[in-house]
Amino acid sequence: MKKKIGIMLLFIMIALSSCANKQEKKEIIRIGHNQSQNHPTHLGLLAFEEYIEKNLGDKYDVQVFPSELLGSQTDMVQLTQTGAINYCVASNAILETFDDIYEIFNLPYLFSSTESYHHVMNDKSITSDIYNSTADAGFRAVTWLDAGSRSFYTKDVKIEKPEDLKGLKIRVQQSPTNVEMMKLFGASASPMGFGEVYTALQSGIIDGAENNEMSLTDNGHGEVCKYYSYDMHQMVPDILIGNTSFIDNMSEEEKKVFEKGYEILNEVQMKEWVKAVENAKDKAQNDLKVEFNYPDQQAFKDTVAPLTKKVLDKNKKLIPYYEKIEEYNKKYPAKEG
Ligand code: GCU
Repeated sequence: MKKKIGIMLLFIMIALSSCANKQEKKEIIRIGHNQSQNHPTHLGLLAFEEYIEKNLGDKYDVQVFPSELLGSQTDMVQLTQTGAINYCVASNAILETFDDIYEIFNLPYLFSSTESYHHVMNDKSITSDIYNSTADAGFRAVTWLDAGSRSFYTKDVKIEKPEDLKGLKIRVQQSPTNVEMMKLFGASASPMGFGEVYTALQSGIIDGAENNEMSLTDNGHGEVCKYYSYDMHQMVPDILIGNTSFIDNMSEEEKKVFEKGYEILNEVQMKEWVKAVENAKDKAQNDLKVEFNYPDQQAFKDTVAPLTKKVLDKNKKLIPYYEKIEEYNKKYPAKEG
């Protein structure tokens, strides 16, 4: 239903904007994402909009659509592929169903620390091929956004060790790697879009989910789930993807402006992210009375370690990327405590 309304809205918007366009002769750039208007991603995209319009405002009108207005992430990736919209933000998790090279960033405990994660994502010798892997399928990735680390949060059962997950129904993103990970944890994986999670938690269809701290507050999941356990099983980046023909048909000068725009988006989003996570933890703890737990992560790591081996054995092209990531992990090890 939500999807249908989103798609209808999109067509109405396209119709309205093409009328407006006749007078203004500006090309509308539509960017969709699934976060709220307070979220760092939205703030970053507004900075992108401002920069593009400041430099190319006589040609482009950038419009940012938050909160799944244009559909779920999977819908938005498909709209970007066909060129119905120009860009969208997608979690790396769902991109593996478009090209399996994206499996690499979905592996559990891939990064030893936040520093290692950020260095890897900023290293073009790692990301370039991955970002361009889907060009023929209709989209290219242009930059990444921070989505922190993912941990379990639950309604009734406090997760202190992997065994506590046994038999629980846990929502995961629509990614085969995530489903496999939950199998190893002994939980039953319920893949669904982000926008469906709140109702699923509330109605008891699922017992919990896994995500960063912002989902407790910005998406209200902390109203229902009162236990958040820092097992930190994944750091999955969000990725801004753009329609291939739209990107490739720009002039060289325009491409430069857009490249700078992506950098600004990344910088603003990451700066806002640090503040937003602090605020979310504070609000979750003090207003929503969510209990934060710090279980021994090693037991969780050991439980899902076979998945990395399995994925690398099956998808051998990931090995060179994995080796480079391991180098960063050695350089930026986990901090004690
Ligand atoms: C995070 C991430 C989103 C993703 C969501 C999810 O919020 O930033 O891109 O959609 O997790 O779990 O689906």
